[in-house]
Amino acid sequence: MKTLVLIFVLINISSSLAKPNHINGGFSLDLIDRDSPQSPLYNPSYAQFDHLKNAFQRSTYRASHLSKRAGFTIDLIERESLLSPFYNAKYASSDRLKSAFLGSMSGASHFSRKSGLIDADISNNFGEYLMSIDIGTPPVKVLGIVDTGSDLTWAQCEPCESCYEQVGPILVPSNSSTYQPLTCQNKGFLCQPTSQHSCDSNNICRYKIGYGDGSHTTGDLAIDTFWFGQTSFKNVVFGCGHDNNGKFNKEGSGIIGLGGGPLSLINQLDVVTQGIFSYCLIPNFNDGTNQTSKMQFGYYAKVTGPNVVSTPLVKKDPSTFYYLTLESVLVGQNNVSSNNSFSKKDVQEGNIIIDSGTTLTFIDQELYEELTLDLTEVLGSPIALDPDGFFQYCYKDLNMDTVPTVTFRFTDADVELPPVNTFLEVQKGMSCLTIVPSTDIAIFGNLSQRYLLVGYDLINNKVYFKHVDCTKYA
Ligand SMILES: *[C@@H]1O[C@H](CO)[C@@H](O)[C@H](O)[C@H]1NC(C)=O
Ligand SMILES: *[C@@H]1O[C@H](CO)[C@@H](O)[C@H](O)[C@H]1NC(C)=O
Ligand SMILES: *[C@@H]1O[C@H](CO)[C@@H](O)[C@H](O)[C@H]1NC(C)=O
Ligand SMILES: *[C@@H]1O[C@H](CO)[C@@H](O)[C@H](O)[C@H]1NC(C)=O
Ligand SMILES: *[C@@H]1O[C@H](CO)[C@@H](O)[C@H](O)[C@H]1NC(C)=O
Repeated sequence: MKTLVLIFVLINISSSLAKPNHINGGFSLDLIDRDSPQSPLYNPSYAQFDHLKNAFQRSTYRASHLSKRAGFTIDLIERESLLSPFYNAKYASSDRLKSAFLGSMSGASHFSRKSGLIDADISNNFGEYLMSIDIGTPPVKVLGIVDTGSDLTWAQCEPCESCYEQVGPILVPSNSSTYQPLTCQNKGFLCQPTSQHSCDSNNICRYKIGYGDGSHTTGDLAIDTFWFGQTSFKNVVFGCGHDNNGKFNKEGSGIIGLGGGPLSLINQLDVVTQGIFSYCLIPNFNDGTNQTSKMQFGYYAKVTGPNVVSTPLVKKDPSTFYYLTLESVLVGQNNVSSNNSFSKKDVQEGNIIIDSGTTLTFIDQELYEELTLDLTEVLGSPIALDPDGFFQYCYKDLNMDTVPTVTFRFTDADVELPPVNTFLEVQKGMSCLTIVPSTDIAIFGNLSQRYLLVGYDLINNKVYFKHVDCTKYA
């Protein structure tokens, strides 16, 4: 319902209804793995292991920026106002405000009061799936990088004060009859002069997102019609970026934000999505199939049936991230009630982020040590294959049949990870544990999520897991 508030205000602005043309069915999209041959980012000159290494590199960058972001709070309480278009009495005020500000700041890792920019090491570590959508009337194709770790969707826009090289067409706002920049008055607090937002001389609301590596995007906050396949939505808030620079890849038009904050597409479109989306990640590293993972939105994205487990989504700041509670990790062949389980005594709610754009799983150092101790008991002493500091726990010619199931015990949900989810052959004959220790925030990464149908329900605040054949969902 979050978005109803937003849409309501938009109705006032534009006197037109935000109304999707397929109200009940939801919709689904192909996810193009950036390392798959179908991706425009695919670089055939990379060897398989380079792919892996790059993915892990991105994963690590991302982990470090997620941790900075997740640990970050900023006092914006004074900006809250009943006039805010995002005002919703249902939500704790600070939570909502921070999410509106921070959540929309894709890749915000830490707020630099001095520069007024949000710093983040972002260009290396956006989520790695690309999604093709159409924006405007007539629609123009936009290939955005899907990021469940950020909220604001933005695309490069003419006129370019400074745009990075882009293969596809750059949006021309004046070409679209449904494009409308948001004016300062209408957008309430969003356009109060802050370091992220400002009013230009034409009374247009400008957004500004800066990243730690010098990358940045600046432009107009605007609304336009978004098309997801045959389904269209009017008045979707996005960033029309006129000044975008840094290490952005020329194949992408921008970012598609699917985080948990109010500006996320999931929440903006919740009339149809009902705050529900799911994905089933198809392993990509070793197969030549052309199957793409799909992301589903709305009713059909519901994860139901036998053997579904669910765990509460924990509300924390910034609301962009999806926080779960990991109570313990268990080692043992299909038996989670055995006493090969361990947990930290002081389990904190929301102690782990689930992220589709992080490769590895990062867990608390203490849990990691116990996990590896137990694994060593079964598998023997590991080898450290550690030129880049990624893999400290590897085995030569590992017989996967001997690897015990590792169970992540989230609140109310035991998620069993078979060997294929925990060990990966990173070099010929060398398999390494894809769960690594973190001194900072924990992240449930996408290798752990393979072969699982993972569903998010932002209305009921639940994440669902179900073991399925993901190719059946492709
Ligand atoms: C915008 O309109 C011009 C003139 O009609 C056209 O040449 C151009 O292809 C359009 N570009 C986009 C991205 O819509
Ligand atoms: C995958 O797609 C490529 C290019 O579209 C095609 O050449 C190849 O035959 C396809 N492979 C399979 C297994 O369908
Ligand atoms: C799991 O372990 C418990 C206690 O050790 C035992 O009672 C139970 O039978 C085991 N279940 C399976 C499926 O092995
Ligand atoms: C494991 O469980 C058994 C029986 O339930 C018990 O005797 C044993 O002490 C337990 N081991 C540990 C390390 O807790
Ligand atoms: C996991 O994420 C990495 C990096 O974001 C990506 O390259 C990889 O394809 C993803 N893996 C799966 C199985 O989805």
